[in-house]
Amino acid sequence: EASQREQLLGLNRRVMEFYQEMLLKNPRGRGARSYLEKRGMDPEILRQFGIGFAPPGWDNLIGFLRKNRFSLSLAEKAGLIVPRKQQNGYYDRFRNRVIFPIRDVTGQVVAFGGRVMDEALPKYLNSPESPVYHKRSTLYGLHAARSACRSRGRVYIVEGYFDLLAMHQHGLTNSVATLGTSLTRDHIRRLSRAAGSGDKKAYLVFDSDAAGVNAAKRTIGAFLEEGMEAAVILLPPGHDPDSYLFDQGAEAFDRLAQKAPTLFGFLIENAVSAHGLALEGKVKIITEMAPVLAEIQDAVARSVYIQHLAETIGVDEAAVLEKVRQQQP
Ligand code: CTP
Ligand code: MN
Ligand code: MN
Ligand code: MN
Ligand code: MN
Repeated sequence: EASQREQLLGLNRRVMEFYQEMLLKNPRGRGARSYLEKRGMDPEILRQFGIGFAPPGWDNLIGFLRKNRFSLSLAEKAGLIVPRKQQNGYYDRFRNRVIFPIRDVTGQVVAFGGRVMDEALPKYLNSPESPVYHKRSTLYGLHAARSACRSRGRVYIVEGYFDLLAMHQHGLTNSVATLGTSLTRDHIRRLSRAAGSGDKKAYLVFDSDAAGVNAAKRTIGAFLEEGMEAAVILLPPGHDPDSYLFDQGAEAFDRLAQKAPTLFGFLIENAVSAHGLALEGKVKIITEMAPVLAEIQDAVARSVYIQHLAETIGVDEAAVLEKVRQQQP
């Protein structure tokens, strides 16, 4: 008797194959095939990542599950089908969407994401949490990135599904995606483990809307604890890695990486351009950075960072130190 975990993973794998077949072989997958082609996707990358298509209609997957004698309540646990509110029965969660299987670090399929092919909302739909899928610790693409992360000693952290595929397609195979959620300690821990024991550096790749910047502040401590350097690649306005790579190419991306500031340096720069270096600006910057600094556990690292901030904005180190001390409970 297989454990529930094994059953869920087995089901997900078959469902991935079902969606793949819909994309690659079914006449109804034509629209999705041409959508992916228009976005420049290489068929080999699509195959490698198991990209598929959920046809329009409420019970295509349910039909497949019935035919193959899968338990519908298991499929509900996997988040693949949703119970109807007023009546008995279920409907397919993913309909008329391009499907991205989400794998864990060992390559098991733990969840799915689906994108519409027009402007309909929501643009993406994702599996809910399940016994095999925990958003906070899953990084899309980690399985495929692992060996490149080890050998290159660096990893790029991007936001979205297509960003990750575009990175791979442009040879940047040491990349993972957070899928829109902010980077957590769990993510960083897993990344660090997957990257092995050598030197390792993470590049946070932000689009210029800088929504990710605030979340990134809270990750400084985690990177330090995991012994990972962190740097920031800021893309030009209007770009994400997908659009940037197809527009400018991998060499341009490499040049951005070469001049990437450290995460801490980036946060300071960011605060300086938001608040200026007049007196009130300095006060605001220190107030903003003090909680970040207070989270750094290692006393030596903390003091180096405090020094760095004080020097950069031209205030006395003791003043910063006092603000940081006030943060600690
Ligand atoms: N996301 C999500 N649900 C949404 C919007 C976004 O889960 N309604 C997640 C997806 O993982 C998405 C990522 O956040 O890939 C980044 O969002 P966004 O930049 O809006 O989408 P892109 O990945 O750029 O998608 P596309 O290029 O297809 O427009
Ligand atoms: Mn964004
Ligand atoms: Mn994007
Ligand atoms: Mn995009
Ligand atoms: Mn601010």
